[in-house]
Amino acid sequence: MDKLIINGSKRLTGEIEVHGSKNSVLPILAACVLSQGENIIHNCPMLSDVDAALKILVELGCKVKREEHTVCVDSSGVNGFEISDSLMREMRSSVIFLGAILGRTGKAVLSTPGGCEIGLRPIDMHISAMEQLGAEVFEEHGRLHFECKNGLHAARVILPFPSVGATENIMIASCVAKGTTVITNAAREPEISDLADFLNGCGAKIHGAGDSTIIIDGVEKLTATTHTVIPDRIAASTYLLAGAITHGRVCIKEIIPAHLGALIPVLKQSGCDVSVSNRWICISSPPRLSRVKTVRTMPYPGFPTDVQAPLTAMLSVADGTSVVVENIFECRYKHVSELIRLGAKINVEGRTAVIEGVPYLTGASVVSPDLRGGFALVIAGLAAKGETVISGVEHIDRGYENPEKLLSLLGADIKRIKENGTEKK
Ligand code: EPZ
Repeated sequence: MDKLIINGSKRLTGEIEVHGSKNSVLPILAACVLSQGENIIHNCPMLSDVDAALKILVELGCKVKREEHTVCVDSSGVNGFEISDSLMREMRSSVIFLGAILGRTGKAVLSTPGGCEIGLRPIDMHISAMEQLGAEVFEEHGRLHFECKNGLHAARVILPFPSVGATENIMIASCVAKGTTVITNAAREPEISDLADFLNGCGAKIHGAGDSTIIIDGVEKLTATTHTVIPDRIAASTYLLAGAITHGRVCIKEIIPAHLGALIPVLKQSGCDVSVSNRWICISSPPRLSRVKTVRTMPYPGFPTDVQAPLTAMLSVADGTSVVVENIFECRYKHVSELIRLGAKINVEGRTAVIEGVPYLTGASVVSPDLRGGFALVIAGLAAKGETVISGVEHIDRGYENPEKLLSLLGADIKRIKENGTEKK
């Protein structure tokens, strides 16, 4: 397993671009199962979660070709409807393939999701929605079997919570359901709109994506299209926070600033100057950050749960006491114990973290607990005095493309040491 070694207290300055959105490309790759023919996906990030999704596509009978950030998925030959247990375990979010497999083949078999690092990750809303669309489901030996003998039919689905994945599965499956499906209390994340754009490019008839009511008029079949994935708003937010904690001046180019709407006031409250154009965001951070009042994670357009861990790291050296409330996942504070090893003073009670800003952090050896918690440790290491060694980097590689390269471009003293002890150049 690779390690990252950071020699901290270096001010980050400069400008970078971030990769395409992981949470957009994963449902779009899943939807390729439904859109028959050669789908061309541009701005596809090079991430291990994407690699896992491509393996699932191949397992289902698709032909996959990748050239750098462009992936071609030919789904003409789809002949499978099962996702193996091993691939389900490789990528927690593979439930996102359910709607596409069911819509294309009329059947689907996948594993009940084990928990993951940030919570139980139940899929009750996915199951209930597929039943409302006409699927029958039973569980046997940890595997879920779905079948819709007479094809899928439209439904009016009311989500008890604006689940991103459930919204995506319903949107995909109902593209080829008979009749008009209405999703109420749908998730509004930008990744939902990007998926809808992809599906409409394949001939679907989806209206209202990005709002809390989405209407899908079922069509006979979908045919392949070419699509460019939106920039990754979570990665962009993460690198801005890395700039902020190092009192740097960092610009993230070629993004959609509106997608980071909830982060900007928090950066300003912490004392950063923030300038925004239609394609980039720049921050200039003061010598000493200030605490922010309570930040609550909420469904979009609220503050994103995926930025909670990176923000907690930044606030660990802000003057005063900040409060963060994690409302989306039940145990998304595994990074806190590792931040405390670096000298942070954070107290977690239930869903609330009380962060007492310390004058500085000091380098240590820490272990990345999960994807976003892992990058929180990188952010802390960038500010810490001395050397920080982060293991468990495979978690970070799930959602951030080449982090050490981008951070080096901004002036960080960071290197990746491969398992055999050699430095990755
Ligand atoms: C997506 O996960 C993202 N993953 C997550 O990003 C993100 O944190 C999350 O949305 C919220 O924005 C991808 O898009 C691949 P949810 P998803 O369904 O769809 C509960 C990252 O770091 N729930 O909106 O799984 C669930 O347990 C990842 O990039 C049910 O109870 O999120 C959670 O508490 C992490 N039953 C809440 O709803 C269900 O059937 C929100 O989950 C489904 C969800």
